[in-house]
Amino acid sequence: MQFWQSTGDLPKYFARAAARYDRIPGHMYAIEVEGLKKVFGNVEAVAGIDLIVSEGEMFGFLGPNGAGKSTTTKILTTLLRPTAGTARVAGFDIVTHPHEVRLSIGVALQEAGLDTLATGREMLVLLARLQGLRGGQPHKRAAAMLDLVGLSDAADRRLGTYSGGMRRRLDLAGALIHGPKLLFLDEPTTGLDPASRHAIWEEVARLNREEGITVFLTTQYLEEADRLAERVAIIDHGRIVALGSPTELKSEIAADILTLAVPEESMDVAKEALTRLPGLKEIQSDTKELTLFVTGGSSAIASAVRLLHEVDVTVGSVKLSSPTLDEVFLRATGSRLEGAEQQQAETDGKKRGRKEAS
Ligand SMILES: Nc1ncnc2c1ncn2[C@@H]1O[C@H](COP(=O)(O)OP(=O)(O)OP(=O)(O)O)[C@@H](O)[C@H]1O
Ligand SMILES: [Mg+2]
Repeated sequence: MQFWQSTGDLPKYFARAAARYDRIPGHMYAIEVEGLKKVFGNVEAVAGIDLIVSEGEMFGFLGPNGAGKSTTTKILTTLLRPTAGTARVAGFDIVTHPHEVRLSIGVALQEAGLDTLATGREMLVLLARLQGLRGGQPHKRAAAMLDLVGLSDAADRRLGTYSGGMRRRLDLAGALIHGPKLLFLDEPTTGLDPASRHAIWEEVARLNREEGITVFLTTQYLEEADRLAERVAIIDHGRIVALGSPTELKSEIAADILTLAVPEESMDVAKEALTRLPGLKEIQSDTKELTLFVTGGSSAIASAVRLLHEVDVTVGSVKLSSPTLDEVFLRATGSRLEGAEQQQAETDGKKRGRKEAS
């Protein structure tokens, strides 16, 4: 059982961050979502989401595989109809005014299918025409966007020769071709090497900062959400489990994180013994590790080791750290997001199969 369930303090804990963003009457929001749901057969992919994104904001939507990030993005970009709930994007209702929504937004989807024989420039010209640009405009905009994302030199090469990072940059250029003020990016850096990931981060941050573009970005990377987003919604099983700025979310934990490696067979004894630790706020365990939310910092290390020694449990390793978004996720859901990241390689294969089939 999770500790907070027994104390019942979770809703209060995150409600504070959410409450600070209650709707202000008359204010223009880039995105307003109320009670949004999407059901596929017996899977509730999005299970009732409420959120508000202000104009000019960089908003992160962080969650593990299958959390409902892409489904939410597709609904907000009018590619899927919600089962229930409402959403307004750029001031337009997504169900009654999908056309206006589409003209106002740029979208780079997770599974964009690129024609590998076309060149980067041809692709962008085509997208510009599809967006209704005419005359010399498509070529002009394509050149400007290629320049913007640093692809001018590769503009006339076939997409088949582009690296993963170059393709994601082209996705970004495509999403920006008609000059939208609101950009939806679904996992813009998944599968990229660290250098390409950093390059995309810089580009997205610059678009937000210098061009004032509102960004709704989904990610399963803690670091990405932490570095880029002004506010983050953490989503799990179709529900928002935490909402606030990364700093707020971490500081609301108001504790240090003590991680202890303990042999599997001693886990229960260890956990029981550690409930007597001074300053303990919460304790979570998996098969190999105990995570303790404690106040009192380094003095907790000595106390914890002593308590374990008293019950004959040997500690493998001890680590004291400040909370990250992973601990925010852990506290809200009882599992870590980082483990989910490691499984990603395997799930990616399966996922692709599923998405092609659907
Ligand atoms: N077209 C569909 N038909 C049936 N189930 C679907 C469909 N699309 C999504 N789902 C299910 O809805 C849930 C949420 O999927 P979604 O793609 O939104 O997750 P995600 O957060 O984007 O995950 P990932 O990080 O893997 O991209 C999953 O359980 C998924 O299997
Ligand atoms: Mg997805």
